[in-house]
Parts: sequence; structure tokens; C-alpha cells
Amino acid sequence: MQIKKIELDPKDISAQDRYKLLIGSIVPRPIGFISTISSDGIYNLAPFSFFNGICSNPMAVLFCPVVRSTDGQEKDTLKNIKANKEFVVNIVSEEFANQMNQCSAEYPPQVDEFKESKLTPKPSKIVKPPLVKESKVNLECKLFQIVKVGDGKGSGCVVIGEVVYVHVREDVYKDGKILLSELKPIGRLGGTEYCRVTDTFSIQRPIIQAPVGDNKN
Ligand SMILES: Cc1cc2nc3c(=O)[nH]c(=O)nc-3n(C[C@H](O)[C@H](O)[C@H](O)COP(=O)(O)O)c2cc1C
Repeated sequence: MQIKKIELDPKDISAQDRYKLLIGSIVPRPIGFISTISSDGIYNLAPFSFFNGICSNPMAVLFCPVVRSTDGQEKDTLKNIKANKEFVVNIVSEEFANQMNQCSAEYPPQVDEFKESKLTPKPSKIVKPPLVKESKVNLECKLFQIVKVGDGKGSGCVVIGEVVYVHVREDVYKDGKILLSELKPIGRLGGTEYCRVTDTFSIQRPIIQAPVGDNKN
């Protein structure tokens, strides 16, 4: 028996159903744990799973803060980046998943989420926002561009950062490669579900002709 596909025009379904389609089908999502600093010098920490790398020259990453659903305002992370043009991406490992989740609470801007979550701020090398010490990989970023997507409720933006300095714990980095078994990253699924990366398999890339350059995508 053939299983039919349900067809949906995003215009005909609610914003909440559109959101559920995105978070349920784009899985697993990596988590960028973003540290910023406000213009008053308050540290801020928040997880974003609409997050990814972009390219290596320049080394660049992106994440997507949407407007706050409670009051339609910009999230503190975005406000801080607009003010200071800098942020740090801290990679999330299973060991501090609960503390990461704690930082997703809607704290007012004057609250330091490092203190709330009991995670440790460590001075960055180049940018003002601190690293999360517990994180095994930290990417210091300078703002490259903010691309606004939509307007009002449910809208968001893409924050693009150029990575200007990298910190990797030595036990996680061998022969220029990140060791998955030591990094123990977690991925975000729909709702409140997460996953580990423990059941992996390998597929060889087909080679049609001799590769040009050494950039494998
Ligand atoms: C694992 C996880 C992933 C999240 N991903 C996003 C995301 O991609 N975009 C977003 O706007 N909010 C996301 N959130 C919610 C924010 O973390 C939350 O709104 C937080 O309070 C924002 O903090 P801020 O106002 O200090 O920036 C996520 C929450 C969790 C727990």
C-alpha cells in the first residue's frame, strides 16, 4: 500500500504548527550556547538550536534568535550583539545539559545567567564576552552580519559571526580532528527531547573525478 504525503501550504496553518513542523523535522539540531555581554556589562548565556557552521574562509557560524513569544521583543542575546558586535559560541556536552537548559529561562537582562546556572565564565582571548569554561570547544566571534527574516510575531533573524579565535580542550582534539567520544555533544529534537551522538555509521563519498583543492563539503 502506498503511503500518501499530506500537503501543507504554510499560509494555511498556524504559526505554532509551522514551528512544530520545523522543530520536529529538522532533527537532530546542534546547539550553539551563546555568551554575550550587555552594554551594562552583564553576562548573558542562552542556547540556540537553529545554529550551524557556514564556511571556513572566513571561518563563520550562524544562529537564529526569533522574537520572544511572550512580548514580541528581541531576545537579550540579540540586543547584546547589536550593542557590542561580539559573542562566543560554546559547544554543549552532555555533562552540562541541565545547566544549558537552565539558561533558556526568560531571565530579565540584569540577571547574569552564568551565576544562575552555576557555569563558569572564563575571559576570552579577543572578544569581551566570556567563554563557558565547562564547554570543550569555544568559538570567539565578531559580528559579520544580521539578516532580518520577517516582522513581528514568529519572525526572527540570522546572526552571522566570524570566528576570530578557537579554544579546544586538549583531550578532545587529536591530529587536527575533534573526538566525538570525548566531546559528547547533544542534539535538540522536537519538544523537550534531546539525543546523544552514539550510534553512528559511515558512508564513503563517491568520487567522479579528481577533487580540486582540499575543501570537502
Ligand atoms: C536547546 C534549546 C534550543 C533553543 N533554540 C532556540 C533558537 O534556535 N532560537 C530561539 O530564538 N530560541 C531558542 N531557544 C530559546 C532561548 O534559549 C530562550 O528564549 C532564551 O531565554 C533566550 O535568552 P536571552 O533572552 O537571554 O537571549 C532554545 C532553547 C533551548 C533549551
